[in-house]
Amino acid sequence: MSTTSNKRFLLVERPDGRAVRETDFRLETTSLPALADGQVLLRTLFLSLDPYMRGRMSAARSYAPPVELGAVMTGEVVGEILETRAPGFDVGDIVTAHAGWQEFAVLPAKAVERVDRAQLGNLPVSYLLGVLGMPGATAYFALDTIGKPKPGETVLISAAAGAVGQVAGQIAKLKGCKVIACAGTAEKLDYVTRELGFDAGVGYKDKDAATLAAEFAVHAPNGFDVFFDNVGGVTHDAAMMNLALHARIIICGVISAYDRLGQPDTGLRWNRQLLVKRAVMQGFLVSDHRARWPEFRAAMAAWLRSGAIRYREDIVDGIEAAPRAFMGLLKGANRGKMLVRVAR
Ligand SMILES: NC(=O)c1ccc[n+]([C@@H]2O[C@H](COP(=O)([O-])OP(=O)(O)OC[C@H]3O[C@@H](n4cnc5c(N)ncnc54)[C@H](OP(=O)(O)O)[C@@H]3O)[C@@H](O)[C@H]2O)c1
Repeated sequence: MSTTSNKRFLLVERPDGRAVRETDFRLETTSLPALADGQVLLRTLFLSLDPYMRGRMSAARSYAPPVELGAVMTGEVVGEILETRAPGFDVGDIVTAHAGWQEFAVLPAKAVERVDRAQLGNLPVSYLLGVLGMPGATAYFALDTIGKPKPGETVLISAAAGAVGQVAGQIAKLKGCKVIACAGTAEKLDYVTRELGFDAGVGYKDKDAATLAAEFAVHAPNGFDVFFDNVGGVTHDAAMMNLALHARIIICGVISAYDRLGQPDTGLRWNRQLLVKRAVMQGFLVSDHRARWPEFRAAMAAWLRSGAIRYREDIVDGIEAAPRAFMGLLKGANRGKMLVRVAR
């Protein structure tokens, strides 16, 4: 493969009020510019696919600006430095960067973060996009700052087998909690209960809120002390019918509504449940916790090395696979953290 040509995906259509289609992206091959002073050339090893990207495809107002039509689709990568004209970087360095859906990127040094190989040790570099990266940090900080799980409490995790959910549930187990998983397939529920030690699993597909609420109640007769919500929708409603006194509800994601962004967010109101249970519901954003990242990385790396936390990845090969894998992620086809291996 020549490093002068680069395959990349551009965003060419916005999926407003509908599911994402392959034709929302266009694959093009371009040539790479020569390096200027202060720049590095990186080769993408792994591209992370994450639900937040759905939001960036929409022009609806959010905490981050949308991807412009015709621009490279956004995404975080782990890469290897192939060429450098920036002090502090050497050829062969492993780095993370928001380089987008492409095989190579020329970036200013300040947009690239060097990886501490000693801290990573034998752990796979792909973990920097998952359990040791943004999704792992989401689980860690959302529980630490909002959920505050205590021994003996009952915790519900939605999208429990995903990039965030599998870590959140394992941390809650380490804190001595009873952990109930909610996910879309029997295979995912089997994985988190048999392999990761979650206490019980409940499937949500094709169930109304009352049915799901009754199933939750079987596993949490005194209600949920912590509800880690990654999905919103029916699962959220069913959980809100099962709150324990002084429950903490983490609003981490609303993936069930990502194809309806920009539309009014109306529906059932749970104010009375919040009042009666004196519960707290709080929105969470991982980027608010950047300053504590080193603490998170050190704690998570130690848990991974000791085997206290395990992590499943779902890896597809080649940049061409990105759109389909992303569409699958939004529908629950992924089994663990969704990644594209762009180069070995
Ligand atoms: N606030 C933050 O800072 C932050 C940071 C990272 C992630 N998040 C959010 O956290 C959530 C999980 O992210 P992730 O990276 O860990 O993704 P993930 O769980 O690995 O993948 C997304 C999962 O969502 C589930 N899903 C899809 N459509 C659904 C629906 N209509 N109802 C219920 N579940 C549905 C699917 O699992 P099933 O098979 O179980 O349905 C799918 O596998 C997302 O909402 C994401 O936006 C927020």
